[in-house]
Amino acid sequence: MSEHNSNKPVSFQEKLEKNVFALILATAIIVSVGGIVEIVPLFYLNSTFEDQVHPEYEELSGVRPYTALELAGRDIYQREGCYLCHSQMIRPFRDEKDRYGHYSLAVESKYDHPFQWGSKRTGPDIARLGGKYSDAWHEQHLRAPRSVVPESVMPNYPWLDDATIDGVGIEKRVKAMKVLGVPYTDEDINNAAASVEGKTEMQALVAYLQVLGTMIKFEPGRDYRD
Ligand code: HEC
Repeated sequence: MSEHNSNKPVSFQEKLEKNVFALILATAIIVSVGGIVEIVPLFYLNSTFEDQVHPEYEELSGVRPYTALELAGRDIYQREGCYLCHSQMIRPFRDEKDRYGHYSLAVESKYDHPFQWGSKRTGPDIARLGGKYSDAWHEQHLRAPRSVVPESVMPNYPWLDDATIDGVGIEKRVKAMKVLGVPYTDEDINNAAASVEGKTEMQALVAYLQVLGTMIKFEPGRDYRD
């Protein structure tokens, strides 16, 4: 019975827990402090990107918007649900860097709407896939993964060879990206349809895969975070 001993002083926490309105108020105050700490920095995102690579920002500004063909490939990547098995986010841990290369920088996905970081890794992370294999390897691998990696559990995507990219659709997508803040020029928009003419979905997807992680030229062994 000692817990209910009336002589025992009632603690602040005990009082709070017994008064539902005070408890709600206190919870709201604590949660908003946490919220403000997390949300306010997002309003300064541009400077976050710049600070992250400062003072090498100029040197690292190789990050550019996707070409129309790469953008078309990126759409196919999303349509086919590749992100359900592949992440595009190398964490800053030694084992990740040893396996995949330099950890991902925020600036590298600044033109991605939506970003494809993901967290599910049934297959490997592909944030730095570009240039690892030839175009022909990718095509063969996408058509029939087990013909190049016998133990693979990745699905076959043979239909990517059959469809061509819809130029009008891509022009609209480039425009939409511009609305979202990606700095496409009028020329990019006007040339979008022509630049994908006759290209298959396979070619677009491979163009996208080959650019992943290649925009920044990292110096080996250098840490770009500080
Ligand atoms: C069911 C899960 C799954 C899905 C969905 C999937 N993959 Fe994979 N992927 C894997 C696995 C497992 C591997 C490792 C074995 C291999 O290389 O095939 C892999 C490997 C890869 C590789 C080779 C990566 C490397 O570094 O060796 C590429 C490229 C790739 N996938 C692209 C794609 C694309 C593009 C799509 C969507 C069209 C896709 N994957 C969908 C599971 C998946």
